[in-house]
Amino acid sequence: MAYEAPANVMISAEEIQQRVRELAVEIQRDYAADEQLHLVSVLKGGFIFLGDLVRAMHRPVSIDFMAVSSYAKGTTSSGEVRVLKDLDSGLDGRNVIIVEDIVDTGLTLSYLQEILHARSPKSLRTACLLSKPSRRAVEVKVDYIGFTIEDRFVVGYGLDYAEQYRNLPYLATLD
Ligand code: IMP
Repeated sequence: MAYEAPANVMISAEEIQQRVRELAVEIQRDYAADEQLHLVSVLKGGFIFLGDLVRAMHRPVSIDFMAVSSYAKGTTSSGEVRVLKDLDSGLDGRNVIIVEDIVDTGLTLSYLQEILHARSPKSLRTACLLSKPSRRAVEVKVDYIGFTIEDRFVVGYGLDYAEQYRNLPYLATLD
């Protein structure tokens, strides 16, 4: 069976790489040069963004991962989020940056911000590669946004459809 990668490129690999480098500069500018950053990525979608982001940073960084799943009550999403895999270490006194692939309704992110804030980090900020503001159901603060996009379903660069296409180096639309 021939494999056909989605060809409707929304954001090219070169544009993504350029923007991720810019975000790394922006983020690092906001912290004193000797401050260590602790990047917390949300599996699975955030893993490629995190990988490129840390390689563009020139200071001590540490990383950790969390896996969450939102589950529905009845037919509508309740906005409740279940932690499937928690962080390996605590956040007390650390400069934490949540690294997410995309903020859509904002429910996942606002929940994450709430539970991570309760763990007493020194600071807590959020970086999202993509934002779909037209879909927002709750107000959520995102400090660094790579690209603001319209309401289209996108895959690639970590984002999937039924676990496919995460490996594409670019972002493509499926719908
Ligand atoms: P939110 O809680 O609605 O903001 O959901 C965010 C999560 O939904 C992301 O971390 C993605 O896993 C998923 N998601 C939202 N939009 C897309 C998309 O266009 N493509 C792939 N996954 C998406």
